[in-house]
Amino acid sequence: MCGIVGAIAGRDVVPMLTEGLKRLEYRGYDSAGIAVLNGAIRRVRRVGRVAEMESAVRAEDLKGIVGIAHTRWATHGGVTEPNAHPHMSGDQVAVVHNGIIENHEEQRARLKALGYEFESQTDTEVVAHLIHHYFRETRDLFAATRRAVADLHGAYALGVVALDEPHVMTGARMGCPLVIGLGDGENYLASDVSAVIAQTRRVMYLEDGDVAALERGRVRVVDRAGCPVERREHLSELSADAVDLGPYRHYMQKEIHEQPRAIADTIEGVVDGGVDIDGLFGAGATALFRDAEAVLILASGTSFYAGLVARHWIEAIAAVPCGVELGHEYRYRETIPNPRQLVVTISQSGETLDTMEALKRAKALGHDRTLSICNVRESAIPRASRLAFYTRAGAEIGVASTKAFTTQLVALFTLTMALAKARGKLSAGGESDLIEQLRFVPGSVQHALNLEPQVQAWAERFAVRDHALFLGRGVHYPIALEGALKLKEISYIHAEAYPAGELKHGPLALVDAAMPVVVIAPNDALLEKVKSNMQEVRARGGEIYVFADLDSHFAPSEGVHVIRTPRHAGWLSPIVHAIPVQLLAYHTALRRGTDVDKPRNLAKAVTVE
Ligand code: F6R
Repeated sequence: MCGIVGAIAGRDVVPMLTEGLKRLEYRGYDSAGIAVLNGAIRRVRRVGRVAEMESAVRAEDLKGIVGIAHTRWATHGGVTEPNAHPHMSGDQVAVVHNGIIENHEEQRARLKALGYEFESQTDTEVVAHLIHHYFRETRDLFAATRRAVADLHGAYALGVVALDEPHVMTGARMGCPLVIGLGDGENYLASDVSAVIAQTRRVMYLEDGDVAALERGRVRVVDRAGCPVERREHLSELSADAVDLGPYRHYMQKEIHEQPRAIADTIEGVVDGGVDIDGLFGAGATALFRDAEAVLILASGTSFYAGLVARHWIEAIAAVPCGVELGHEYRYRETIPNPRQLVVTISQSGETLDTMEALKRAKALGHDRTLSICNVRESAIPRASRLAFYTRAGAEIGVASTKAFTTQLVALFTLTMALAKARGKLSAGGESDLIEQLRFVPGSVQHALNLEPQVQAWAERFAVRDHALFLGRGVHYPIALEGALKLKEISYIHAEAYPAGELKHGPLALVDAAMPVVVIAPNDALLEKVKSNMQEVRARGGEIYVFADLDSHFAPSEGVHVIRTPRHAGWLSPIVHAIPVQLLAYHTALRRGTDVDKPRNLAKAVTVE
């Protein structure tokens, strides 16, 4: 969490830093701040959104050709201006930081003994003083940053400037992402490419332990051993348009509507070229999949729900036992490792700490068959995995995951086909049949998006409720979970999901006329069972809102509202049913006037425990 951006140029960097910060607001939005060199270090910080900081920057006419900026998601210390970044050591050094310094208390005591005074409750302030301490000795910001990070334990991405060395800006990375943007006579630092894409597509990803020194005309990097290294230059595929809102009101709305394209891009390789296992998942995948005795999926939040859907596919189609576990639960319990198990991590951002730590734990237990399904290239989780499959959702900026989820699902379906094929469970005819089902998904998703006006009408009714229940069965139960999560996350309505068969074992007690109940009712083998569960709700006066497939011939009746989703999409039906629950959450939140893209207390990349 937290976003950092920095620039060193021959022109005023304040506008580009402010724009860059806006692109990073998805990472945290409790407070924002900027520091630029202009004869002195001039700093502006504000509690609240980047826009608040921007107004203050304008009022103070802040300008400078070197600077760093930060948007915060509070961990150490409350949401106050003194805790906002950049943090300074006297008037000499300014630092922005993403991550957590675990030994900050020990360092604080040491620095206090050296005479440093602290103004904030953050862990970051120790970094500013430490760098200042070493700068006094070395008079070299690059050397001082290297010495300081050697004293730190924990996770960090840092951006640093010093008054006495105005032609240099330093950066350092351990466990948190940091990318260098390479411009023409100017260079940039950022938590992710989106913050610098308006300036350059040429980027360099730092690795854990790297420290970098940026000047206008050169970039130097040393690795964790202190040896100079060249990090490869990439041309980012992200376009500046991809991070613009375009005609949409919110990123979440834009991202919901981008799903047909995002899905089509993600499955392009399969629908065009068939299931080429090594080509899709990486060299050696076929052998790994062939003798995998089981699959273990590790993930968090929405990505975990994608895993719950995949379990149904993997067991039914590839005939491999599949477990799905939340990363933070897995890492702290005793498990029975099986080195022939394929460990699959799913993460949109590729930096979720809970998932990353679960992967590390699995590896420490002897699991070396690891695959990551991820949306962000070069991010930590795929880099720590043997195999990787990248979804092609494009940048997801809205905090609530939408297109990342549905692209994860098509990626997991591709994995299912690959496992089945490698294990001899898929005939040539079977493979083309499944690919054909996949080919129809973007169209069905578009059809589901066309239901928006109907869902919007339902949202009016949900917006005045305090609670909601979501029901689904089998492979659609995770879609009920996802619908409830989306609704609570952005509209703050309390929502719970249950497998419909579980209702009578307790939750039915909650049902009365004030409890709207959303039912995911695809035309599958469980439809009749779902209908019986709906009767249980109706008998208690509950109002039912059903998403039913076109071919299920579901009729509305008193207290039962029906929206007809496209024809049953077979195995891939959960993807189609995810769309209306996303739209329901979005329009309900809109109606309630919440901040859809930046819901309270949340941030997108969760890099804390
Ligand atoms: C919910 C949501 C979160 C994330 C979770 C994992 O809308 O976005 O639940 O799914 O924090 O994030 P990733 O996929 O980046 O590991």
